[in-house]
Amino acid sequence: MHPDPHVLVLVAHPDLGRSRVNAALADAVRGLRHVTVHDLYGSYPDHRVDVPRERALLHAHRTVVLQFPFYWYSTPPLLKQWLDQVMPYGPALTGKTLRLAVSTGSAAHTYTPEGRTGYTMAELLRPLEATARLTGMDLAEPLLVHGARNLTDEELKRTAERYQELLCAAGAVQRTS
Ligand SMILES: Cc1cc2nc3c(=O)[nH]c(=O)nc-3n(C[C@H](O)[C@H](O)[C@H](O)COP(=O)(O)O)c2cc1C
Repeated sequence: MHPDPHVLVLVAHPDLGRSRVNAALADAVRGLRHVTVHDLYGSYPDHRVDVPRERALLHAHRTVVLQFPFYWYSTPPLLKQWLDQVMPYGPALTGKTLRLAVSTGSAAHTYTPEGRTGYTMAELLRPLEATARLTGMDLAEPLLVHGARNLTDEELKRTAERYQELLCAAGAVQRTS
């Protein structure tokens, strides 16, 4: 049995209604009892983030997932704003875990030194890794969904199942601690 929700999934897609990948991922975990799915753009269409509410959500969960489509090798703007306004500066989140779930339009092979992008995802995600480190959070292995446009329905389904498993495992690990 799951206790109170302890995985917070912050979904940051500017148009979730037209999303294929992020909508499927969010749908896959929305029904899990220990997971809170929080649609940032849906909650704040005017980009006025309720900082006390977001801080309370952050503190009430032990794992935080940032789920977003890669936009210019970074987060969509509302997620950056959320980080700017909500993340506490300093080691206030020790003991919590941060996981990234990122979809990209470009294929996996482009995210190599020889590829068109020229950098690996690990390199490009460094600022978020540094943010986790500064705030005292552990960083879990990211879920990367590459080549969003060319993903078959079957591949997307398997990816969504993998996401569900990862978040269930997060719950299982935390339940026994
Ligand atoms: C403004 C904008 C910037 C984007 N920048 C990138 C990028 O830097 N790298 C990349 O691989 N894809 C980029 N894309 C493609 C999106 O990441 C891709 O469409 C998205 O992950 C698909 O997920 P969805 O089906 O949930 O919308 C960009 C798309 C938009 C609209």
